[in-house]
Amino acid sequence: MDKERKLLIAGNWKMNKTVAEALDLVRGLKRELANVKEIDLVVCPPYTALSDVSREILDSNIRLGAQNMSENNVGAFTGEIAGVMLKEFSVRYVILGHSERRQYQKESDELVSEKARAAHSMSIKPIVCVGETLEQRESGITEEIVGGQIKGSLAGLTAEQMDETVIAYEPVWAIGTGKTATAEQAQEMHAFIRKTIAGMFDDQIAKRVRIQYGGSVKPANARELMSQPDIDGALVGGASLEVRNFSDIVKNSI
Ligand code: 13P
Repeated sequence: MDKERKLLIAGNWKMNKTVAEALDLVRGLKRELANVKEIDLVVCPPYTALSDVSREILDSNIRLGAQNMSENNVGAFTGEIAGVMLKEFSVRYVILGHSERRQYQKESDELVSEKARAAHSMSIKPIVCVGETLEQRESGITEEIVGGQIKGSLAGLTAEQMDETVIAYEPVWAIGTGKTATAEQAQEMHAFIRKTIAGMFDDQIAKRVRIQYGGSVKPANARELMSQPDIDGALVGGASLEVRNFSDIVKNSI
């Protein structure tokens, strides 16, 4: 596939996989995807598997991501994990503001922007997630919601930091439901997000930023989604938990 920006396909394993299961999965991915150079590949295991997975992918084309991190660098924050701790395992990316965290942990745009700045201070690239609920889409306020999330979650980033930031558009109604946004619906929102970023920063930065699509991405729909001009990769949940599904998504996107 001839794309303006290099595709970035990441697996968000969410709260799945023990260490042994994580190693099994990543060994399979290494085997299946060893020759892939056209696409940047990332896996985001739970914290407890980062250390072992990090060692397993040392000499591979797969990079490591985390699913969240604290906005603070150190101190009395029980249960939190700081960027400096992720760096110990060569974590290169961190998913921030996933809709599940926005919903269950009540994460706000302001908090996501603080976390994004903390990630950049550690040279970890944030994957900032945005997306509307079904109710919001049906009330015709999708652009207002997603535009607000983009502006709020990227607030305070410098141009240099924006250049090292990835966006994931994940319509909440498409996550884990088997309902994918149509390629046209996704493309329309990706173009809107790029335009919003151009307004906040400039056209050149907006042209370079990678915007992933997430929400029921599968081997069967990957190609059509990835061939849209403003879709620059995928953030894959359920289908990233099996070697066959994730590697077929990657192979079908080349
Ligand atoms: P599913 O691929 O399971 O719909 O999950 C998408 C997602 O939330 C990725 O972050």
